[in-house]
Amino acid sequence: MVRIAISTAFIAAVIGMASALSLDQHAPIRALVKKISTVTNSKNIVAHDNARLNHYFKKNPVEEFATGSAPVTNEVFSYIAEAKVGSQTFDLIVDTGSSNTWVGATTKFTGTEYTDSVSIGGTAATTQSIGVAKSSTGFTGTDGIVGFGPEELTEDTVNGVDEVPTFLQTLMSEGVISSNILGVSFAPLTGSSDESANGELTFGGVDESAYTGDITYTTRVTPYWGVSVSKFAFGSTSLGTTTASGIVDTGTTLFYVPTAVYTKFLTASKGKLDNTSGLVKFTTKPTSNFTFVIGGTTFTLTPAQYLIATAQYSNWGISGTSGFYTFIGDGGSEAPNTILGQSFLEFYYSVYDTDNNRVGLATAA
Ligand SMILES: *[C@@H]1O[C@H](CO)[C@@H](O)[C@H](O)[C@H]1NC(C)=O
Ligand SMILES: *[C@@H]1O[C@H](CO)[C@@H](O)[C@H](O)[C@H]1NC(C)=O
Repeated sequence: MVRIAISTAFIAAVIGMASALSLDQHAPIRALVKKISTVTNSKNIVAHDNARLNHYFKKNPVEEFATGSAPVTNEVFSYIAEAKVGSQTFDLIVDTGSSNTWVGATTKFTGTEYTDSVSIGGTAATTQSIGVAKSSTGFTGTDGIVGFGPEELTEDTVNGVDEVPTFLQTLMSEGVISSNILGVSFAPLTGSSDESANGELTFGGVDESAYTGDITYTTRVTPYWGVSVSKFAFGSTSLGTTTASGIVDTGTTLFYVPTAVYTKFLTASKGKLDNTSGLVKFTTKPTSNFTFVIGGTTFTLTPAQYLIATAQYSNWGISGTSGFYTFIGDGGSEAPNTILGQSFLEFYYSVYDTDNNRVGLATAA
C-alpha cells in the first residue's frame, strides 16, 4: 500500500512538472509600456480624439500617420512600447484601434511597406510587415504605431495586398506565442508626474496579477474591438435606455459616451462644457458614481476616478485651478459613439482575444 501511495505521488509530481513546463512554454510574454504626454492644452486632446472618432464613423482605419495628412493635433497622452525594428529602437504607440505597424519617415528606409524583425518586450517577430509613414507629422515623442486592432482593419491599407498580418499574427505564425490574445494593463499617472513606466502588455494570454475578480467577456462587435454598452447611470439616475456601440481603444485619451447619455449626464451632475479646456467642468464636486453595463456586468467609475486629479492639471494643459474636470466626453450620436479610451482603461484591465473573437474587461488590480 505504501509503495503504491509513493508511486502515485511520484507520478503526480512528474505530471505536475510536465504541465508546469508546458505552461511555461506557453506563458504570456510581458512588455512594459510607458505613458507619455505631449499635451499643452486639453482642448487639443479632444480635437485629436474627435479626429479618431471621425475615422471610426466612416469605418476607415485610423491612418493619420500613414497617409501623411497632418493630424489635427498630436497633443495626446500615449502609451508607448519600446520596439526594436531591425537594428534600430523605436517608441511605438500601443493602439488597439488600428492594426498596422508603422514607423516614421525620419528613418532611412526605402519603400512604403517592407518586412523586418520586430521585437517588443522579449518577443521577436522575424518577418513583420511594417509601413513607413510618408510624413513624420504627428510623431512628437513617438516614432510610430504598433497596431493591435483586428486584422480586417489592415484591409486595403497596403497596395496589392488584401490584408497585412498584424504583429500578434506574426508572433502566432512564427510560434512565438500559442494564443492570439493581448492583455493590457494601464495605470493613471501619480502625483504630478508627466511620464511613467506604468503599463504592461501580455502577448499570448492575460496577466492574472493585473486584475481582480472575473474577466467579463463579450463577443467582439466588428470591425473594431467592439462592445455593446447599456444602462448608463449617474448615481441612481438613468442616463437612458439605448444600447450603445462601443470600442475599446488604447489610442483614445478620454472616455466618450453617446450624445443622449452625455446630455443627461450634464443635467444630472450639474456639469457644463467648458470652452477653455474643452472638458466638462463642475463648480461643485460631484459625488455620484458613473456606471454602465457590458455583458451583464456593471462597470463603475467613481468620482475619484472620473475627475481629473488636480495635481495632473498642468499635464492636461488645464489652466484654471478652480473647479473640477472630467474625462467623460461627448461621443456623438452616430455609432460607434462609446469609446472606452485610456482614461477608462487605467481602471480596468482589458483583453483582446482574437482566438475566441471576444473582448474582456476586469477591474484592474
Ligand atoms: C462655447 O463654444 C460653443 C461652440 O464653439 C459656442 O456655441 C458657445 O457659445 C461657447 N460658449 C461660451 C460661453 O463661450
Ligand atoms: C461607488 O462605487 C464604489 C466602487 O464600486 C462603491 O464602493 C461605492 O459604494 C459607490 N458609491 C455609491 C454612492 O454608490
